[in-house]
Amino acid sequence: MKKMFKKSVSIVLCIAMVMCACCAGVWADEAVETGKEPVRISNVINGDTASSRGFCWYTKSNTATKVEVFNELGEAVTATVTPADVFEWEGMFVHKATVSGLEAGKAYTYRVGDGEVWSETGSFTTDNQDDKVDFIAIADVQAGNQENFDKGAAVLAKAFEYMPAADFVANLGDFTDDSDNEEWDYYDNSFGAMNLNYTLAPISGNHDGLGVENWFNNMFNLDTTESVQTSDGVNYSFDYGNVHVAVLNTNDILSISIPQLNWLKNDMNGTDKDWKIVFMHKSPYSLGKDAKWPDALYLQESLTRVLDSCNVDLVMSGHDHMYLRTKPLTGNKLNDSGVTYVLAGTAGAKRYEIRSFLADYFLDTDFIGALTVQKDGYGNYWNGTDWNSTKETNIGGCFNTVSIDGGTLTLKSYILGDETQEATQIDEYTVTKTTGQNKATFSGDNTTSETEYNLGIVPSFFGLAAYTFTSWLPRFLAMVPELLYVFITEDTF
Ligand SMILES: [Fe+2]
Repeated sequence: MKKMFKKSVSIVLCIAMVMCACCAGVWADEAVETGKEPVRISNVINGDTASSRGFCWYTKSNTATKVEVFNELGEAVTATVTPADVFEWEGMFVHKATVSGLEAGKAYTYRVGDGEVWSETGSFTTDNQDDKVDFIAIADVQAGNQENFDKGAAVLAKAFEYMPAADFVANLGDFTDDSDNEEWDYYDNSFGAMNLNYTLAPISGNHDGLGVENWFNNMFNLDTTESVQTSDGVNYSFDYGNVHVAVLNTNDILSISIPQLNWLKNDMNGTDKDWKIVFMHKSPYSLGKDAKWPDALYLQESLTRVLDSCNVDLVMSGHDHMYLRTKPLTGNKLNDSGVTYVLAGTAGAKRYEIRSFLADYFLDTDFIGALTVQKDGYGNYWNGTDWNSTKETNIGGCFNTVSIDGGTLTLKSYILGDETQEATQIDEYTVTKTTGQNKATFSGDNTTSETEYNLGIVPSFFGLAAYTFTSWLPRFLAMVPELLYVFITEDTF
């Protein structure tokens, strides 16, 4: 009898355990199967960096939009969470929520979700508004498969080893190659865990915005209040400590429109911060294969005039997958107190060879402060007189760290060697200045109405076309023999 009772209890327990296991499995899978699990989570700069952040994530099903923020003790903090309406995009549901009312200089953790199914916990620290600012910059991961996204993520992970307490990360554009669901999922697989734990300043690249309308703006919760348009990118600005940053959209009329230039001028004249930095995707000064086209070269005329007039210190960009830093320039001439342009190298696996003959037409070699080509089989290191030497350690993905401490800005650039998996420093550059000199000369409304933007489009295209036919084309035609030679010998131009 005792035996029978024991057996019965055992059977009941077994059945109960199997049922529990089944239920647990169903519940565990529920978030994935019902699509409530937040994916592609980003935490970006949105407004005041000392008190707010913009969160964006995707779900497969239409769920609520909630964010919880905790202090260092793990206690929920009273912050204002402003969710936007959920909308469907390419078969997924997009959630955006802005968190404001945070305290300056505080470390926070957070999670996003619908109130029942939550993400993993992420973290960020708000700007403490002192005069020390550290940030990482990468560009052009532009991968199309998981393997290459993993390589790009390894580069960013290495950057965090060199700058673990970075205030933010600037991604200078071309996050993906084709900007579709598959690639953004690859991106999320590779970068997602890291993305939870830093604040991002995203910049729209041509692969993020041109021909793939709205992808960029639908991936990130940026403050679009002052953006001149948002279909192929977003222009915005922010303060961090003693730095003012303007982020440009160089997909705007394939380059930059007059309304966006007007916005930039007002924006930069509206700050009294000690340092003025611009992030954008396309590079006015380069020697890669994309440096021969008028969309980027037009920036040498249209954009630099504004940068010069506003005392911008540093421009960081991407697009032409190599590393090139100019000496300070004003009006396309060397000037010690001018603007330094940094083409930040590619963090990805797609790297460009050098087109040295471009230097005869579009970039005075005297302007080059540092140059590294990251592609094997090409002269890859500028030694001040030529680019014919080769360094194996320069074949890899590039990352940059920028540290600002009062009146000193230090840029350090590195390559994570493909073979060595070790970082090699390829450049170090310091700018010093007397602080307290910048005065704000613009205040007030810096928004651009749709009508104003549309009215600005025709003259913008006219400006680009005029440059293309009168300045670019004659030089381009003159270098056709070199282009043909490259095409014949390298099957690309
Ligand atoms: Fe690009």
